[in-house]
Amino acid sequence: MLTTLAIANYRSLRELIVPLGPLNVITGPNGSGKSNLYRALRLLALTARGGVIPSLAREGGLQSTLWAGPERFSRAALEGAVPVQGTVRKEVVSLRLGFAGDAFGYAIDLGLPTASTSQFALDPVIKRECIWNGPLLRPSALLVDRRGPAIRIRDEAGDWTTLAQPVASFDSMMSEFADPRSAPEMIAVREQIRSWRFYDHFRTDELAPARQVQIGTHSPVLADDGANLAAALQTIREIGDGEALDTAVADAFPGARVEIVNHEGRFELALRQHGLLRPLRAAELSDGTLRYLLLAAALLSPRPPALLVLDEPETSLHPDLLASLARLIARASRQSQVFVVSHAARLVAALEREEGSRSIVLERKLGATALADAEALDLPPWKWPSR
Ligand SMILES: Nc1ncnc2c1ncn2[C@@H]1O[C@H](COP(=O)(O)OP(=O)(O)O)[C@@H](O)[C@H]1O
Ligand SMILES: [Mg+2]
Repeated sequence: MLTTLAIANYRSLRELIVPLGPLNVITGPNGSGKSNLYRALRLLALTARGGVIPSLAREGGLQSTLWAGPERFSRAALEGAVPVQGTVRKEVVSLRLGFAGDAFGYAIDLGLPTASTSQFALDPVIKRECIWNGPLLRPSALLVDRRGPAIRIRDEAGDWTTLAQPVASFDSMMSEFADPRSAPEMIAVREQIRSWRFYDHFRTDELAPARQVQIGTHSPVLADDGANLAAALQTIREIGDGEALDTAVADAFPGARVEIVNHEGRFELALRQHGLLRPLRAAELSDGTLRYLLLAAALLSPRPPALLVLDEPETSLHPDLLASLARLIARASRQSQVFVVSHAARLVAALEREEGSRSIVLERKLGATALADAEALDLPPWKWPSR
């Protein structure tokens, strides 16, 4: 389980250290930085899949994703006496992401390349990456250490070996690495991050993938776009907790039951409902009903991830469905660590009543995202690796 999430210089997250529990509910007013926190977490996940640089590029490049405020605020600006003023940048450009968990911690530091004639001169470069033992980075806890192109690994006897093969500036050391014998920790961290699952705004328009008839194959994991919804629900029926699925559906739509119609290997989702003479096909379901079924398929996955992240799952759900959704989320949090961004008061209130839940309320102070009532929270210690 992750115990700490740390972000510096990513959009409105100038420096944010967040303590995490089994079920984390992120709330706060519009513009407080909830989606930025979600995106930062997804960016962290992409490092282990080799996608951090392309993803930053899609977001407009490092320059536009970096915190746009000053490195420091003057005392007068903090007190609101004068407007915030830019200062000459003294520190190097550095976008940093990291986490710590029960077993390991990881941090990555991205910066700008040194001037070159390369056509990729705007690609950010990975300056430093570290994996350490336990919750806090200390020199004695360091296990794998990358500086620029060089990776050092510490063996059980405590001796360092530098890998002969340098790593490219645009590759995470984790995406490069294959040999589990020389760095079991790196493989462990990578496999953990690769299992993280993110779901945001499922499409439910007429052409949405979830409304189409699909070739059915075993699907223990719902696809990002929900395209394999019918197969995922059937997989839950056959190898997962089919009873929980039926309960979740009946809970939300009294008397209703999901049916998977098999047209010679092509699966179609249908919902048999009280009072109707024939089941409704996926193409005919309301947006809210379809989205609820997508969320149920994601949350009842027979192959639960280490971390499940949902961004505003309440979108287009009728408020009456939120209590059922909260029950599904709470159930999932017993198998996966869960991170939910929400501003539906009813969902938040229902989740807060669940055991192990913790609410993380964000607010903006001088443009930067901060934890509301940070004083009251038990903030975990955190240390960034230096360059
Ligand atoms: N590079 C940046 N530097 C500073 N603030 C930024 C940057 N990019 C976006 N923001 C700010 O982050 C704010 C919050 O974004 P967002 O996470 O979408 O809020 P929420 O999801 O809580 O409504 C926006 O108001 C935007 O002005
Ligand atoms: Mg948002």
